[in-house]
Amino acid sequence: MKRIAVLVSGGGTNLQALIDAEKSGIIVNGKISLVISNVKGAYALERARMNGIASAVVLKKDCGSQEAFEQNITALLREHEIDLIVLAGFMSILSEEFTKAFPHRIINVHPSLIPSFCGKGFYGLHVHEKALEYGVKVTGATVHFVNEIPDGGEIILQKAVEVKEGDTPEILQKRVMTEAEWNILPEAVSLFCQDRLTVENNIVHIGE
Ligand code: GAR
Repeated sequence: MKRIAVLVSGGGTNLQALIDAEKSGIIVNGKISLVISNVKGAYALERARMNGIASAVVLKKDCGSQEAFEQNITALLREHEIDLIVLAGFMSILSEEFTKAFPHRIINVHPSLIPSFCGKGFYGLHVHEKALEYGVKVTGATVHFVNEIPDGGEIILQKAVEVKEGDTPEILQKRVMTEAEWNILPEAVSLFCQDRLTVENNIVHIGE
């Protein structure tokens, strides 16, 4: 059984999708063992509590530096013997030192079809604002491995979602979550936990 840590900053609907997927057996060979939030009072922490999952809050301002912040997170990950780190609405960019310490063991869900609308400054609702401003007719979500480049790691799964006339950023965000994120994130986690993902020349292959 692979032990999964989920890093969050907000509402945690993607965390909820993972919890539901574990319960219904969609996640094979994986157990959500720890939730870490970098925001005090994030509703995601309440979701962890209601489901009996260990949780912790690590605040950058209390740690004093990015390095100390990441050392605190790393200590928790080691203590809980974590195999897979899932960034699910985690709104803090992790350093090269951190990402290099866990090669192909960190995955992130991003609310667009990478390489569109991604990188520094593209997070949460902003991503959907930019997609609507640009006028794209199709957007979606991406699950990818995390490396030192924000949203630059190898793509694991993507799903397209239609943009509709009259969409607001909020409406589009909800559609991208329900039609894409909440499906492809648990699916990617399950593939990882079954050792079905391999990476060759920056391409992720999905095995049987
Ligand atoms: C999700 O849409 C997620 O893809 C996005 O933030 C939202 C978090 O919602 N993440 C990013 O933009 C990361 N670059 P949640 O807390 O309800 O899961």
